[in-house]
Amino acid sequence: MSSVHFANADDPAKGAAGKRIYAQWCSSCHGKRLQGQPLWQLQDQYSGRRAPAHDESGHTWEHSDEDLYRITRYGRFTTTPPSVHSYMPAFEDILNDEQILDAMAFIKARWPLGLRISQSLLNPGYAGMPANAQTVEWTFPPTCLTSVQRWRTRSR
Ligand code: HEC
Repeated sequence: MSSVHFANADDPAKGAAGKRIYAQWCSSCHGKRLQGQPLWQLQDQYSGRRAPAHDESGHTWEHSDEDLYRITRYGRFTTTPPSVHSYMPAFEDILNDEQILDAMAFIKARWPLGLRISQSLLNPGYAGMPANAQTVEWTFPPTCLTSVQRWRTRSR
C-alpha cells in the first residue's frame, strides 16, 4: 500500500463523484465555479479567512496531491505551524480518503492542460501527467518554465 495519496483526474467516475462532494462540502466557501470567495486575493488582516480559488486563478495547483489531501483532511498543510489558526475546516470526521481524493480529482480535471502538467511535476513519479502532454500545444505559468523544460528534456 502506498502512503502517498493520488487523485486520478482522468477517471470520469471519480470526477463525477467528486463533483457531488465538492458541491455539498466545498462550494459554499470555494465557490460554485471554483472561483474562491470574493476578494480572496486581497492581502489584509482577513486574507487567511477567505477561501482561495481552486481554478487556474488560484494556487491550489502549486501543491502536490499529497499536500492537497492533507489540507482537506486536517484543515492545514503539514508546513503550517500549530500556532497559526486555519480557517480551512478539517474534513477527517466527515469525508473518507476516497471522497477527499474524488473531490481533488474533480478540481484537477477542471484545470487547463498547462496546469495539469505543472502540478503533476510535484507528485512522485509525476503521477497524473496527462497522456497528451508531449503532443499538444499548451501554455504554462512562467514560474513553471524551468521545471517543465527539465521534464521535457528528460522524457524525450
Ligand atoms: C468554511 C469555509 C471552507 C470550506 C467549507 C472549505 N474550505 Fe478549503 N479553505 C478555506 C480557507 C479559508 C482556506 C485558506 C486557508 C489558508 O490560507 O490558511 C482554504 C484552503 C484550501 C486549500 C488550499 C488551497 C491553496 O491554494 O492553498 C484546499 C486544497 C482546500 N481548501 C480544499 C477544500 C476542499 C476540498 C473542501 C471541501 C471538501 C474545502 N476546502 C472546504 C475555507 C473553506
